[in-house]
Amino acid sequence: MQELKITRPDDWHLHLRDGAALKAVLPHTVRQFARAIIMPNLKPPVRSLADATAYRARIMAAIPAGRQFEPLMTLYLTDNTKPEDIIAANASGFVKAVKYYPAGATTNSEFGVTDIRKCDRIFETMQHIDMPLLLHGEVTSNDIDVFDREKVFIEQYLIPLKQRFPKLRVVLEHITTADAVQFVLDANNIAATITPQHLLFSRNILFKGGIQPHFYCLPILKREQHRQAILQAATSGNPKFFLGTDSAPHGRNRKENSCGCAGCYSALHAMELYAEAFESVNALDKLEAFASFHGPDFYQLPRNTEQITLTKTSWCIPNELPFPDSGLVPLRAGEEITWQMVYKRQ
Ligand code: DOR
Ligand code: ZN
Repeated sequence: MQELKITRPDDWHLHLRDGAALKAVLPHTVRQFARAIIMPNLKPPVRSLADATAYRARIMAAIPAGRQFEPLMTLYLTDNTKPEDIIAANASGFVKAVKYYPAGATTNSEFGVTDIRKCDRIFETMQHIDMPLLLHGEVTSNDIDVFDREKVFIEQYLIPLKQRFPKLRVVLEHITTADAVQFVLDANNIAATITPQHLLFSRNILFKGGIQPHFYCLPILKREQHRQAILQAATSGNPKFFLGTDSAPHGRNRKENSCGCAGCYSALHAMELYAEAFESVNALDKLEAFASFHGPDFYQLPRNTEQITLTKTSWCIPNELPFPDSGLVPLRAGEEITWQMVYKRQ
């Protein structure tokens, strides 16, 4: 296939940051996607409707002139979130979900929840008003091997949570394991986002010829058998699986550091990366539904009507992109990629 025309996609899991970083990265997402679910892990996090309203205004102000983009906001769940906060945010119409980070699991998660079982009043409210809960599904305990943290989260917390709140709509974000795929397939009212890096790479890439900090994200890349399981899920046509890049910009100096940050930057070339992954298993015919239909259907939003074109052609991913303080290294920097996305406003 040389050319693929599909409905304009959305990104159902995105980190945009704030200030100068936001201005540096937002044009990439706006070119690739019509809408995105915006992660609330700022410092301090987006915890209230007032925070979300102000952050949304800053995002809108950073959209390049003449472009259209809809940020779908989320609230960051803390030990102190009240049911009233959730109800007010939901009533706004532009806050679409609540994000759960276990305290200490990842970037800016120190305000996160210390014990998920303490949030039952919140989950009850969310189930009642039918607001989705987005999970960073990893345990944080030091006793648990970093490669097992998703599987153990499902066993220890997610299965009981779904038993307590069977109708609560849940997105298990950035899934990385065959265990997560199986759980999502078996349970009701649950979906999962899948990133390009988890479709394209196993954990071997982290140590290829030396330590490779630009492939370090959380949840960490897993064994090849897990990559194959999520690739199979993404390309299966099952509406429970949809696109979420988890594009997470950190400057080069924060990544190439004695204690490097977690996050891969893919907003520049997300659709091209997904196209390569789908093509690798002859499943390009399944890309449109994964990228453009399953997400809005889950979130109960209309599908986009415009189209994008992906063309089979070779170009080189830049070594570095402009970013405050130090450059931003995109995923697979300096390598050839064999698809190119074009979007012209209709
Ligand atoms: O790799 C990651 N980066 N995983 C996360 O959960 C957070 C994200 C970030 O904000 O940098
Ligand atoms: Zn994320």
